[in-house]
Amino acid sequence: MDEHAVEKIVAEHHGSLGGMLSVLSEIQAKYRYLPQDALHKVAAATGRSLTDIYAVVTFYKAFSLKPRGKHLISVCLGTACHVRGAPKIVEEFRRQLGIPPGETTPDKEFTLETVNCLGACALGPTVVVDQRYFRHVTTAKVPHILEQARQGFPQSGADVDERVFPIHVSCPQCGQSLMDAGHPLEGQASIRLTASFAGKMGALHLSSLYGNAAAAGDDAIPEGALAVLSCPHCGRELADGSDCPECGATMAALTAGSCAALHRCARRGCPGHRLDLGAAVRNVSPEGKGA
Ligand code: FES
Repeated sequence: MDEHAVEKIVAEHHGSLGGMLSVLSEIQAKYRYLPQDALHKVAAATGRSLTDIYAVVTFYKAFSLKPRGKHLISVCLGTACHVRGAPKIVEEFRRQLGIPPGETTPDKEFTLETVNCLGACALGPTVVVDQRYFRHVTTAKVPHILEQARQGFPQSGADVDERVFPIHVSCPQCGQSLMDAGHPLEGQASIRLTASFAGKMGALHLSSLYGNAAAAGDDAIPEGALAVLSCPHCGRELADGSDCPECGATMAALTAGSCAALHRCARRGCPGHRLDLGAAVRNVSPEGKGA
């Protein structure tokens, strides 16, 4: 383990909202799991107890205490995917890779896991490989998916369209659905949030198509304004402390299905968004606010 790299990661996020999650996410991205030595280092550098840190690590399925392979394959076994044949998909991955769910191939290339609902139920059976969604997966498609992962996914072309799909989200605080069929956008129910800016408050509708930046709202929030986004049901703020990859502004986190988190930029008009698999935001955070 590179101690200096871990110290640098802690220094960059220490004290920020959601700091511990950012620290752990970066360490996991660097090593593909959370080495025990690194967690001791994080505890020493942040003053948090190891017990607290392990509580966070075990709470979020996105984190792993075991080394993971270069490619992470997640097969959804939520109800909608299950009834459409997801168990057969799991079995085919198991057969092709020679490992059961929860294990990593001996060459450290693939880790296979199962998850429960990723919020894209209409597309089931759903499989996610390295954050890339595959819809309506059949056993016949499994070898092609594995081959694509080995070769590296294309950055452009037809396959990228696989990343535009409808997603169902709910409030991470009260658990109520944020889908609004009464205000469709791009032919799908929109995501309804409340946006506040300069003492004014208005409804904001976002496209529920992942990969689509369409939005509509009343004129209370001007284009480019950095709004505070909250749940229209419980009124609680949805900021998660992470930065938008497009403009650097604060993002809001929404629960997608039961196993993922959709992050949307709070700046009106900014297309920034991100989907974190296995990192569903919940109403009770074990870490409190910040590291
Ligand atoms: S049940 Fe598989 S995405 Fe919802």
